[in-house]
Amino acid sequence: MKGIVLAGGRATRLGPASRATSKQLMHVYDKPLIYYPISTLIHARINEILVITTPAQVSQFEELLGDGSQWGCAFSYAEQTEPRGLADAFLIGAEFIGDDAVALILGDNIFYGAGLGEQLQAFTDPDGAVVFGLWVPDPERFGVLEMGPDGKTVVAIHEKPADPPSHFMVPGLYFYDHSVVDVARHLPPSARGELEITDVNNQYLGQGKLAVSTLPFATDWFDVGTFDALLDAQSWVAGLQRRKGLLIGSPEAAAYREGFIDADGLRALAAADTHTGDLVKSGYATSLLRILDFEDG
Ligand code: DAU
Repeated sequence: MKGIVLAGGRATRLGPASRATSKQLMHVYDKPLIYYPISTLIHARINEILVITTPAQVSQFEELLGDGSQWGCAFSYAEQTEPRGLADAFLIGAEFIGDDAVALILGDNIFYGAGLGEQLQAFTDPDGAVVFGLWVPDPERFGVLEMGPDGKTVVAIHEKPADPPSHFMVPGLYFYDHSVVDVARHLPPSARGELEITDVNNQYLGQGKLAVSTLPFATDWFDVGTFDALLDAQSWVAGLQRRKGLLIGSPEAAAYREGFIDADGLRALAAADTHTGDLVKSGYATSLLRILDFEDG
């Protein structure tokens, strides 16, 4: 399965901080926001990844992430000239997807939970589509699941409904077979003029090809769209990392855990070269090496 990180958009709710940069390049505590969704894909054991950004920022993403080989991955880059909707990712990425299955993750979504990697790995060869459901107190801000009379079977997904039919929202991580490109090609734009991911998911649902997997209640999930959400995510990462002494949302750590790089590879990332000079001074290198200490007991 291949992966797409959608990291475009105008981030108008983060102005003026977003005026000269991209939201997904901003830091959440000690690492850029985009590290978190990339780590999630790596935990799903996906390492062929297309990063979609705005034309103005693509070179910054390339400078930050490179070709991915340092993390046992292959990264490529594409531009979205206008925010035409989340499902536009499948049109931009059509050639990249080819005949393969694909996971789409939003570049501002942070996921963290025990066993999440294993849960995701179970869906990397989907017959149709797989989305997730997560209980939240404020579902009206998201895509929301509607269940049938049995209270379990999903009968529809509604995008930001005024009167949510359940408390289960659909977070920004979706798995599809290769036919998603065709679905996106035939998708009419919504009332707000966007190609909606919820419309894609409802099409799969209509064909009986949508599986919905509930995330455990204890899963931590953030979409970082506002200053308050950014601050909440920062505090959460800082608190957890300080208490545990380990990194959350680190592609290096994820690549090591999933076997994309070995212990020597991890040591090399924490040691000297132009980039890792910064890692030493910031303390990131020390935290990386702690993974090896932890395993040695
Ligand atoms: O975060 C989960 C939610 O994401 C889902 O529950 C909703 O169903 C889904 O529609 C989406 O809702 P948002 O209101 O968060 O979508 P937004 O338009 O804010 O876009 C999400 C991110 O994707 C944002 O960081 C910018 C980026 N983006 C967005 C669009 C529309 C792009 O890169 N390109 C685009 O064309």
